[in-house]
Amino acid sequence: MTTNQQPLPLDAPIATPVLEMRGITKRFNGVPALQNVNLTIYPGEVHALMGENGAGKSTLMKILAGAYIADEGEIWINGQPLNITDPGTARRAGINLIYQELNVAPNLTVAENMFMGSELRQGQLLDREGMRREAARVLQSLGASFAPDDVVSSLSIAEQQQVEIARALKDNSRILVMDEPTAALSDRETERLFEVIHKLRSDGIAIIYISHRMEEVYALANRVSVLRDGQYIGSLDRHEISPERLVQMMVGRPMQDFYEHQRQTAPGEVVLEVRNISDGRKVQPTNLVLRAGEIVGLAGLVGAGRTELSRLIFGADPKVSGEVFLNGQKLNIRSPGDAIAVGIGYVPEDRKDQGLFLEMSSGKNIILNMLKQDAKAGVINWGSVGKIAKNAVQDLNIRLANLEIRAMDLSGGNQQKLLLARWLAIKPRVLLLDEPTRGVDIGAKSEIYRIISDLAKQGVAVLMVSSELPEVVGLSDRVLVMREGQLVGELGGSTRQSITQENIMAYATGASEVTAS
Ligand SMILES: Nc1ncnc2c1ncn2[C@@H]1O[C@H](COP(=O)(O)OP(=O)(O)OP(=O)(O)O)[C@@H](O)[C@H]1O
Ligand SMILES: [Mg+2]
Repeated sequence: MTTNQQPLPLDAPIATPVLEMRGITKRFNGVPALQNVNLTIYPGEVHALMGENGAGKSTLMKILAGAYIADEGEIWINGQPLNITDPGTARRAGINLIYQELNVAPNLTVAENMFMGSELRQGQLLDREGMRREAARVLQSLGASFAPDDVVSSLSIAEQQQVEIARALKDNSRILVMDEPTAALSDRETERLFEVIHKLRSDGIAIIYISHRMEEVYALANRVSVLRDGQYIGSLDRHEISPERLVQMMVGRPMQDFYEHQRQTAPGEVVLEVRNISDGRKVQPTNLVLRAGEIVGLAGLVGAGRTELSRLIFGADPKVSGEVFLNGQKLNIRSPGDAIAVGIGYVPEDRKDQGLFLEMSSGKNIILNMLKQDAKAGVINWGSVGKIAKNAVQDLNIRLANLEIRAMDLSGGNQQKLLLARWLAIKPRVLLLDEPTRGVDIGAKSEIYRIISDLAKQGVAVLMVSSELPEVVGLSDRVLVMREGQLVGELGGSTRQSITQENIMAYATGASEVTAS
């Protein structure tokens, strides 16, 4: 472990750092988010920045990019101090940040997005041809498969991210920060991104890479720096990196087994039964049952229809056919409100668009569904509502200064926990979870696993959509696999032995049918 006070290890690159952040301190309303943080980055390295949710990673990078101004500390670029007071200064110094949430204008073209705010001109007029040409050159160097004139809304998430990378490269980026860039990408798209990162690194660009995924850090990083509770803990060189060490640095204590919550299966009565449900497009007529106390994993490739199926059950999208029964009683769910009223909860995949009310306080976000339920029942018990919000914050270990802080000011992973807290507050009988641990750090992940297991123990029927196979395998009593809008396989049930990553993938990709025939 190296700190800035000690000499660098022999195998560290011997070059002037392209970036040094020294003694950075940042407070929000008096509460420190960063305290005296140091970070040293060399040209041509991929430097992973790790730490639990709320550790201060995004805040540190926003300071680097000029989106926030530090209360104390210095930033040195190529051995020269630089006073970064605004995003323009950072950009001119070759610093670009690709945010945790993408930052493109969907209705504009790729070229327009790339040159927004720095348009090329010929005299008074926009040099559209020049911008198009330059955009095409950068896109080609990235190996992008779309054109400068394509409208951004027609691109996939991965491609939109490439537009952001292209925008940075056109500015002659020397330091490129990527904040959880793979959170919304498929495996294939992630591989593609890694190829791009390798290429950028060989061009001498320094990449600061924020991720909670250990395997990505292994695959990419030359060095890792760790933050904990707003403090710089230390850095490791590639050969020093091990999961145990990183976890120890991030959480400050060794951690036990990740999936220690594997339980003996004793599923109860059928709680939820779905017959023939379909949206006439992405979900073919589908049947499924969920039993009390059961965690059912819903696996499949991106685009298989898992999110669509859960949204149909919850009443978030209109169905063209199908019936839903709760404890044998036929329900008439026409909207999420109907589902909530009978105790069906749904934690959506996209916490920003569908989940949280970002402007609202964290506390209000937690009690929102309770209020809806209480209002339907005709009484709101404010005393219990406040207590529940406090308890939820404690149970889920949500890091926030107080319940009044706006949801938008929480770190990404804590927003995810906030959303979960909202649904736990209504004491659901059925809980539909879509990618419940996306963007969540490993400590919080294991907390969320514990919470899901506890809910199941209390008799809640859980349906969990997840693309992380270890999570599906580790947590599920039964696994349903979807492909092209249909349930094509079921694993587990009486015994969990058949629940393996290989078996899931065989169904998800259709390989099982090839071998069977
Ligand atoms: N604009 C803001 N106002 C108030 N508090 C903030 C603001 N931005 C960040 N914070 C607080 O600063 C702390 C650090 O947040 P930050 O987003 O940097 O964490 P992070 O390490 O990126 O976490 P994650 O892995 O969850 O994305 C958190 O406690 C967060 O609530
Ligand atoms: Mg963050």
